[in-house]
Amino acid sequence: MQIATVGVIGAGQMGNGIAHVFALSGYDVLLTDVNTDALHKARDLIEKNLARQVTREKITESDKDAALARISTTQTLADLGGTDLVIEAATERETVKTAIFEDLVPHLKPETILTSNTSSISITRLASRTDRPEKFMGFHFMNPVPVMQLVELIRGIATDRETYDALLAVVESLGKTAASAEDFPAFIVNRILMPMINEAVYTLYEGVGSVISIDTAMKLGTNHPMGPLELADFIGLDTCLAIMNVLHDGLADTKYRPCPLLTKYVEAGWLGRKSGRGFYDYR
Ligand code: CAA
Repeated sequence: MQIATVGVIGAGQMGNGIAHVFALSGYDVLLTDVNTDALHKARDLIEKNLARQVTREKITESDKDAALARISTTQTLADLGGTDLVIEAATERETVKTAIFEDLVPHLKPETILTSNTSSISITRLASRTDRPEKFMGFHFMNPVPVMQLVELIRGIATDRETYDALLAVVESLGKTAASAEDFPAFIVNRILMPMINEAVYTLYEGVGSVISIDTAMKLGTNHPMGPLELADFIGLDTCLAIMNVLHDGLADTKYRPCPLLTKYVEAGWLGRKSGRGFYDYR
């Protein structure tokens, strides 16, 4: 099927990046959020990030203006009724996501593909809460979306081949690369990345190294662009903890036990960059 119009639910860090790349690749984008302030902030951020790409000569000024003109915003989920593809990028809580799907599906065309940008929640379970499990898939972008090359494609148990092939073609049209993952807790990227971040927090907790030593060791010792604690702050410590809990509960192995220090930081509201404080101070 022809995909021309894309609905993005959630105007946060991931949603605005997803809207940005789709609009830049020629899709009409309808970005929705319950919060008008979040929609205004997302538009400003998309404009700023597009301008950054103009400055770096990745795109032209007219590419930027055309992309911005392709993005509309709405607070009403029902407005997504005419879209060909919907990407849910709301808060990483299963109850929030399923409530959105229940409100949304009565308005969708039967052929619309429905996806979630979830970083770890079961695609099969989310799909079962919709009217179209065969047209439902995990569509997992990496942060920052305009920069990161990868999109993880996760099939639920009922996803059909046509839906997978359509999303693979969409990923290629964005100039990105897909990696297919089976529907097991946290898929591929976070199954490997989060235990590394959690281990870095244990390394700090046990006094093996300071924040700076741990990040310097991993940046210069293994050529990672960011140290694991800096990356945890970038992703959000609440998100890191939520994903560790999904791994711990879903795979029932103590090797995925979240570090108590990670839990304590989240309890303190020290969530990383977005709250001004995490392993580093951003205030
Ligand atoms: N929009 C557009 N362009 C952006 C951008 C944005 N939001 N953020 C950065 N850029 C561009 C910059 O303009 C710059 O472009 P050029 O290469 O053309 O100069 C480039 O990206 C690098 O940016 P900076 O020079 O500002 O900074 P940097 O070199 O320190 O790189 C980084 C920043 C790209 C974020 C880099 O540190 C990095 O790759 N970090 C690791 C990111 C990562 O691992 N992401 C995955 C997280 S896991 C995840 O997302 C999954 C999950 O479910 C939790």
